[in-house]
Order: sequence, then C-alpha cells, then structure tokens
Amino acid sequence: MLTSRAEAAVDLDAVRHNVAILRAAAGDAQVLVAVKADGYGHGAVEVARAALEAGAAWLGVVLVEEGVALRAAGITAPVLVMMEPPPGAGAVAAAHDLDLGLGSPAALADAVAAGARVHLKVDTGLSRGGSVDWPTLVKTAAETDANVVGVWSHLVCADDPDHPANASQAARFAEALEVAAAAGLRPSLRHLANSAATLTALATHYDLVRPGIAVYGLSPVPGETYGLRPAMTLRARVAMTKDVPAGTGVSYGHRYVTPRATRLALVPLGYGDGVPRNATNTAEVFVGGARHYVSGTVCMDQFVVDVGDGAVEAGDEVVLFGTGDGGEPTAIEWAAALGTISYEIVTRVMPRVPRRYVGGRG
Ligand SMILES: Cc1ncc(COP(=O)(O)O)c(C=O)c1O
Repeated sequence: MLTSRAEAAVDLDAVRHNVAILRAAAGDAQVLVAVKADGYGHGAVEVARAALEAGAAWLGVVLVEEGVALRAAGITAPVLVMMEPPPGAGAVAAAHDLDLGLGSPAALADAVAAGARVHLKVDTGLSRGGSVDWPTLVKTAAETDANVVGVWSHLVCADDPDHPANASQAARFAEALEVAAAAGLRPSLRHLANSAATLTALATHYDLVRPGIAVYGLSPVPGETYGLRPAMTLRARVAMTKDVPAGTGVSYGHRYVTPRATRLALVPLGYGDGVPRNATNTAEVFVGGARHYVSGTVCMDQFVVDVGDGAVEAGDEVVLFGTGDGGEPTAIEWAAALGTISYEIVTRVMPRVPRRYVGGRG
C-alpha cells in the first residue's frame, strides 16, 4: 500500500525474469544489460545487481560517470561505455576498469595513451557513433597496439524485423569484422544486437547481446510480449476530490470542460515528476476500479482526472502505468497514446519520485 505522495515501484523479480528470457534467447552469447540513464529510470545500481544475479555478464552505460557510479556502488562486473567518449575519458576508464566503445581516431588515441580497453565501433548505417573510415581506424589500432577487446555496431530498425536495413547492416558488420581480422585484430567480443535483435535475429548475436528495454519488461517489437514483465509501476495517492457541476473548466486553459455533474480527483504528479504535459486529455490512469482520462492540462506538480460517478476518495491509489494485470495501462499504452516510445515514458520519471524496490534485494 502506497503511503507517500507517489512512487515508482520497481519489481526486481521482473528484471530477473526478463533477463532469464533474454539469456535463453541469446543462446551462447553473453548478455550485456544496458543500465544507462539510471537504468532507463529504474535505478542503475539496483537493476545492475538484479541483472547480474540473473546471469547477465556485462553492464552497459553511455557516460564514464555512469560507469564510475557503478564501481562506487561496489559492482565489479565488466562495464562498457557505449557512447563516443570525450577527451580524457581514457584515464578515467583505465582507473575504474571500464571498457570504452569508440569510433573516432581521437578517442582511440586517448584510450591507447591511458591503456584503456576498447571496443571499436563501426558505423553500419545508423550514422550516429561509429567509424565510417573503418580500414584506417583498425589499422591505427593495430599499429598503436591498442587493447582492442571488442568490435561492435548498433542497429537502426531491429524493432521492425523485416526492415531491409537489418540485412544491410548485418552484411556491413560481417565485412567490418573481416577488415579488422585482416589488420591483425582479434577481438573476443563481437556485438550488434539490442533487445529486439536479441529476441528476433539469431544471426546478430555473435559473442554478446546488448538488451535494454526488454530487461525492463517492455517489448521492443509492437504487438509481441515475449513473456516479458514490466518492472515499473508509477502510482500516486489522490490528494483531494471535489464534486462539480456540468460545464466546469478544469486546469490551465480550461482545455477540459466537464460534460456533466461529476467528481474530479487531484493527482499529485506532474511534468516536474516526468508525466508528459501532452498526456493532457490523452493518457489514461486507473483509479477507483476503472480507467479514466487525464482531464485537462498536466501541470508541473499535479493533474486532474474526471472520475465521473466512480467512488473515488482522497487517499485512493491511482496507477498511471504498470504491468497491466490490474486493469491499469502499461508504459507501452502511454507511449502509444502520446506518440512516443515506452523508453521515454519510463526514463523520464524524475528523481523527485521515490523508487521503491520490490521482489528481493537491489
Ligand atoms: C549502443 C546501444 N546498445 C544497446 C542499447 C539497448 O537498446 P534497447 O533498449 O533497444 O534494447 C542501446 C539503447 O539505445 C544502445 O544505445
């Protein structure tokens, strides 16, 4: 039972369950769990521990600071920093036993000077990080005696298993591995797959897969669940209710006007907590045993729900999203209603919302 204003409850058993599904799908490949952005909003350290307990071998972050925070929490598992690192990152990585994923000559030189382990990244089509002058990068790595333990890339359209970009990226990756081998590099970790590819594209698994969103129980492929269990439930307690007549304008701009005499429930969460402002009149919440729309403009700290003649009182629990098992929407449903992806819905829940861990120690 919720005793505070609001909470994001994170079910670590669900995380372990999801990692087990991903391990089974990964086959012989090791599993790196992406815990960047504070574990997609779930708490990087707690998720990391649960994932490692469930057999994940690696952790993935994007900032060296995120890797340092895992080390400070006493986590000793291998950690890969998965975004092009800034100057000076090599020394930090070496000091904290972090692996650097990189694709630029400057970052490679920085890592070599510091003696940091590197995973060379080839751009196979995403045009984000990764090298587009791969022969030169691998030649430089070989000539400078870089400690290259991995070669990797990232997929553009893995969530659409039939998209032609998948085959073209797989072919470019295979070619890049040959070029690296010809330059004399022998990386033991070749990796390409995110959650979607882990679950749908065996040929992309190589030595290591890098799931993120599926670890949190949110399917990367529309219409499929793969048995994943959503880990986060965002809930609050109704702060107050009021009975109002038909024609009552609600919240800033009166973008909602009550169509009949009704009861309004005030929910003490707003965009300052990570509830998107465009949930206004669009997303649903579960309260009083039924779903109701967010009614009127989402404010910084609160929003209103027209609960009709539902028996809703101050102190009642309102669930924004969760597993869906109790009738509440899922983060995937929120994302669909708001024209975004579930990643954004969970990751944007602010630190102001206390996390409560359930399902074993975190
Ligand atoms: C480089 C890299 N690998 C793996 C992942 C995990 O992706 P997903 O959450 O889709 O499984 C991400 C996240 O975007 C990423 O940037």
